[in-house]
Amino acid sequence: MTRYRKEDPEITRRKFVTTALGASAAVGGLALISTLGGANPVFRLTRDKMPPTPGDILVHAGGDKDGQPVQVADLSEKLVRAWPMGKDADGNPLIRKGDPNNVVAMYKFQAGQIGAPTNIPATIDGQIVVYSDICMHAGCSVSDDDQKAGQMKCPCHSGQYDPMHGAKVTGGPPPGPLPQLPVKMDGDKIVVSGFFLTPPYGFTESDWEARKKAVEDALG
Ligand code: FES
Repeated sequence: MTRYRKEDPEITRRKFVTTALGASAAVGGLALISTLGGANPVFRLTRDKMPPTPGDILVHAGGDKDGQPVQVADLSEKLVRAWPMGKDADGNPLIRKGDPNNVVAMYKFQAGQIGAPTNIPATIDGQIVVYSDICMHAGCSVSDDDQKAGQMKCPCHSGQYDPMHGAKVTGGPPPGPLPQLPVKMDGDKIVVSGFFLTPPYGFTESDWEARKKAVEDALG
């Protein structure tokens, strides 16, 4: 089991950032920080930390094929972990490992198995679906070695999601579904076609909108 965030579920990175910003404002009395990707002294939005971004190629996270592009044939009803791979400033491949919360969970189901509330246009042929791998309860990695086909269970507090139905919560404490990541085929590669459709763990709606804009601004 992997848990990427603070031990206390109430102390998320975002709250830490908020606290830091509040302290900064209290001391300095000035709102010096406009976006998290800009002058924030706590978090600098480098390319390796950017969330899965349109155009990124999904590559295996761990295992024998670590770092290699995920192929359709690699996928099944069993969860496959992947990183988004974008490009550095020189155009060279760059896996976005700078933020461990960028790991995603990939599945391929049979035609007709995926249903609402999955965003079908954001899947590939209604069969390949991708979600954030980070639990919405307290930020654990959902993908441990005990995952059964078609099931998604968080090892930290037994949160359960249904990957065939929008990763909706089917048990345990998670407050909401895992965010779905839009994907499409580009040749034989599976690529990101949009940002997470809903804010990933630790983000409020406004945080997430700010983060997306920061990425778009940085990449032009
Ligand atoms: S972190 Fe608590 S159920 Fe996943």
